[in-house]
Amino acid sequence: MTSNNTFTMIKPDAMADGHMGKILAHIQAAGFRFKALKMTRLSQAQAEAFYAVHAARPFYGELVAFMSSGPVLAAVLEKDQAVADFRTLIGATNPEQAAEGTIRKLYARSIGENAVHGSDSDENAAIEAAFFFSGLEQA
Ligand code: CMP
Repeated sequence: MTSNNTFTMIKPDAMADGHMGKILAHIQAAGFRFKALKMTRLSQAQAEAFYAVHAARPFYGELVAFMSSGPVLAAVLEKDQAVADFRTLIGATNPEQAAEGTIRKLYARSIGENAVHGSDSDENAAIEAAFFFSGLEQA
């Protein structure tokens, strides 16, 4: 069965660049409901754990350093087809290849500092939501 939830983070680049409010409004205007929301800062060990699936990739060290460099805003979002629709909303990983009007096209700095995360499957959405939030925190 397809879940209606996805997980997102507004990444340290977009937080530092003052885009948090505009990105939240963009997400809401697209019909997503916020089930959980938290501003926090990942330690290096937490960023390593969250991105463990990418540990063998050449950019892993850079990714972990960046994701622990400043605050992030983590959220669980609800909508029909949340995972697929949110990935359409944020655009391609590389903002140079992202469609016009997508969050990454509008706000990302680069492929590594790309403004937002979006889960790539229902299974990963549940794992990633549980990394940041308890069941009690998802209303
Ligand atoms: P995201 O899809 O949120 O999670 C994995 C992240 O790895 C991805 O966003 C990018 O920020 C980062 N990433 C992917 N490819 C590269 C790359 N070639 N160079 C640097 N970072 C990358």
